[in-house]
Amino acid sequence: MTASPPQVLVIGSVNADLTVQAPRIPRPGETVLGDHAQVSPGGKGANQAVAAAQAGAHVTLIAAVGDDPFRAPALEGLQAAGVHLNGLTTAPAPTGLALITVAGDGENAITVASGANLHLAATHLPADFGAAHTLLLQQELTPEVTREAARRAHAAGVRVLLNAAPARGADPQLLAHTHHLIVNEHELAAVLPATAHLPRQAGSGDIAAAARSLLAPAGQGPDTVTVTLGAHGSVTVTAAHTHIQPALNVTVVDTTGAGDTYCGTLAARLAHGENLERALAVAGAAAALACTRPGAQAAMPPLADTLALLD
Ligand code: ADP
Ligand code: NA
Repeated sequence: MTASPPQVLVIGSVNADLTVQAPRIPRPGETVLGDHAQVSPGGKGANQAVAAAQAGAHVTLIAAVGDDPFRAPALEGLQAAGVHLNGLTTAPAPTGLALITVAGDGENAITVASGANLHLAATHLPADFGAAHTLLLQQELTPEVTREAARRAHAAGVRVLLNAAPARGADPQLLAHTHHLIVNEHELAAVLPATAHLPRQAGSGDIAAAARSLLAPAGQGPDTVTVTLGAHGSVTVTAAHTHIQPALNVTVVDTTGAGDTYCGTLAARLAHGENLERALAVAGAAAALACTRPGAQAAMPPLADTLALLD
């Protein structure tokens, strides 16, 4: 009997998030006194892998962590969600750590010590990408390994989804091997050519036009671009269609991880064979639900809860 192939492969970051609630974000040179620190699992790669697993996919994560006290808390959510970790590398560097200050008004400031995440190299990538249906990438590893993963997956006929976050200037080689690009408004501005102009109060028409400018001929770059707009939902363009997806109206408790929930769920539902419109609707519902619960991975809803919100 052969094992069923992974449907979604995530190659990305794993962090431990160290969060302190403080009266406000410190100014340069200032110290503010907060309450106790809380350690929780994070990193865009890990978060999206958990979201994809919660959304019903068989998920494998390729990532690097250190051999230190933050390793176990960083991996805890992945293990709970049943993400396959046989491609996990132990690097000669500490586990990635995000230092997060959350102010009373909900504002936050984040500093990431990438640590082991920057040690993931091409030698750690799987020999056979053909076993996966979908590869989901973000931008928290070195540009070199992310580009190489996209290149090899594309060559193997695997569909490549890139969440171009955190924002970084466009990488033409990476985009050339991307089928479906997912960005928020800020990340969209970062990947657009310097000559392109996105109005400050961009409406969905402006967003769709800018997203459309990133579409490429078959096999040479994105055939689908999704722009997430927070409480305004998302806009997705393909050569033939523009899908405007309003956000579901929910009582927001904590939007941490909404974007990661959206990306992981979208990858899972597309890998499952759902059409684009339905996969976008399920991703939006999962992300909205994640906003109603505190935390990132801990807030990601099981598929049944998401589907119950939709129907
Ligand atoms: P990011 O966190 O990457 O900036 P967004 O804030 O655009 O991502 O959120 C991603 C998706 O999560 C949105 O497209 C939307 O579907 C959902 N979402 C985010 N904020 C809300 C909200 N306040 N209410 C409902 N859905 C939301
Ligand atoms: Na949340």
